Amino acid sequence: MTHKIAIIGFGNIAKAIITPLLDKKLIKPENVYCVVNSKKSLEHIKENYKYNINIFDSSSKDSKIVWDCKVKLLSVKPQHLKDIAEADNIKTKDNLLVSILAGVSINRLTQKFPNHKCVRVVTNIPITVGKGLTGIAWGEKITKDQKQFTKELFQNTSKIYEFTEDSLDIFLALTSSGPAIIALIIEALSDGGLSGGLPKMLSEELVMEMILGTISLIKEEKLTTSDVKNLVTSPGGTTISALRVLEKKSIRSALIESIVSARNRSKDFS
Ligand SMILES: NC(=O)c1ccc[n+]([C@@H]2O[C@H](COP(=O)([O-])OP(=O)(O)OC[C@H]3O[C@@H](n4cnc5c(N)ncnc54)[C@H](OP(=O)(O)O)[C@@H]3O)[C@@H](O)[C@H]2O)c1
Repeated sequence: MTHKIAIIGFGNIAKAIITPLLDKKLIKPENVYCVVNSKKSLEHIKENYKYNINIFDSSSKDSKIVWDCKVKLLSVKPQHLKDIAEADNIKTKDNLLVSILAGVSINRLTQKFPNHKCVRVVTNIPITVGKGLTGIAWGEKITKDQKQFTKELFQNTSKIYEFTEDSLDIFLALTSSGPAIIALIIEALSDGGLSGGLPKMLSEELVMEMILGTISLIKEEKLTTSDVKNLVTSPGGTTISALRVLEKKSIRSALIESIVSARNRSKDFS
């Protein structure tokens, strides 16, 4: 990656995206220009971040320099978008802005950043460990090189899927909210183990290994989810007894509605 890159908002997700690229030397620390909101964050990053990147707080005059970079990653919270504006030192119109803001449409981004071609990306927190999922919707007139650069930002840490923008909300609901839903399921099943007398840590470990094992079984043996259910459910046995409770409590419907609700919430932000 030869470009300089500006990062507007250097929080959890921005760090998860950029750090592996720095680790793999695909980008040089001196080519990274970040801006954060507060002096406190600035000092914290300067003292604790393992790379010596260029970083400014938004009130400093020097922070305008980030707008000189032709490529930008926008990674503030959606509610802080109103505080961000293009600086007046932009020289060309063909700059690239890659936004990871939940629910903020390409149209809104393009209106707000008229000197940029905008790309909307949804990624998820497992990118931190190189197991992420990234969905990309391209704005208008993005060049081949800009597409390539955008993919390079995410391909080391995630699988990439290209979508039209209207599919990004459901992609976000499944993949970005999904880790919290799975964490809740792990926690609840572990509490089941705890209720049956197992120590908390062991119970949690067993649940996680069981989930990983089930996924491997489905993938490696090319089974359907129904195949797995049939494999472990015997007449009058323990599994059908457990499944009966879940059906009574409408767990299927609760999970379906949780995803629909997250999708609708994402649409609210647009
Ligand atoms: N968390 C997730 O799982 C996830 C997944 C996918 C996408 N996203 C999206 O990623 C974005 C960032 O999320 P995050 O979890 O990384 O948030 P975060 O950790 O709170 O980071 C936000 C960053 O934005 C900075 N900021 C706020 N106002 C600013 C301003 N006016 N100028 C420059 N920088 C400013 C903050 O600086 P200070 O620290 O100084 O306030 C901070 O560095 C969100 O839009 C979210 O929708 C999140």
